[in-house]
Amino acid sequence: MNDEFRDGRNFLKAGWERLDSIETDQARGIPVPAQEDPVANELRTYRLPPPDSRDSGQGALFSLLSGRKSRRKYSPDGISQKELSFLIWAVQGVKEAKPKYSFRTVPSAGARHPLDLYLYIARVKDLAAGLYRYLPLEHGLALVREESDPTALDAALNRQYWNAALVFIWVAVPYRTEWRYSVASHKLIALDAGHSCQNLYLACESLGLGTCAVGAYNQDKLDRYLGLDGEERFALYAAPVGKI
Ligand SMILES: Cc1cc2nc3c(=O)[nH]c(=O)nc-3n(C[C@H](O)[C@H](O)[C@H](O)COP(=O)(O)O)c2cc1C
Repeated sequence: MNDEFRDGRNFLKAGWERLDSIETDQARGIPVPAQEDPVANELRTYRLPPPDSRDSGQGALFSLLSGRKSRRKYSPDGISQKELSFLIWAVQGVKEAKPKYSFRTVPSAGARHPLDLYLYIARVKDLAAGLYRYLPLEHGLALVREESDPTALDAALNRQYWNAALVFIWVAVPYRTEWRYSVASHKLIALDAGHSCQNLYLACESLGLGTCAVGAYNQDKLDRYLGLDGEERFALYAAPVGKI
């Protein structure tokens, strides 16, 4: 593999184990950076009117955005297949499939869609507990393997499984974007993942479900759990989901 591709792909991987041997500026007691850069005195500033549900069409988006937050405590309840279908569609759903690309509910640089979606399902009505891969073109699931014990996944998520009903795991397939954008791809892939996860937050909010983005996972353990080679395919992001 070309060195620049390797560096770009490594940039997309979780490096949490390396933090054990690094003292962060926060740990060294260095003051927290300002949340906002100061404005030069000569610049004129304007206050905008506060966001108001009456300015947001039917108002649904306003309440979803203002209600959204990271939720890490879930009830033992499961979710229905219809709820699952809506969540997945919000995250990666295809709206228009062309022979070589597709338009989805999320934007993607060059419509390359370099993210595969894996789901660990613990409690979805009438689905066996196990690891699944989403098939976006069919809006279907492939069962990778049945598995009811979430212990290995919990370890791979650095104990952030939180007894969820299911877990979304985004997997990078970088070549889909590298094929077109070469060494400029990796930043784009990271941006694609952010859009997709935000849709999950909003879709969960609309169904009374909770989720929390997880970037602090163990790369090797999660790749092994998913059966990925860690080069052409590797975990990028995760999000447990459950009833709140
Ligand atoms: C890229 C990214 C990675 C994150 N990783 C974790 C994580 O590993 N564990 C966790 O508990 N929260 C994680 N979060 C959630 C943040 O802690 C949370 O978004 C932040 O505290 C702000 O809270 P809010 O989402 O409720 O507004 C992550 C969020 C983002 C955007």
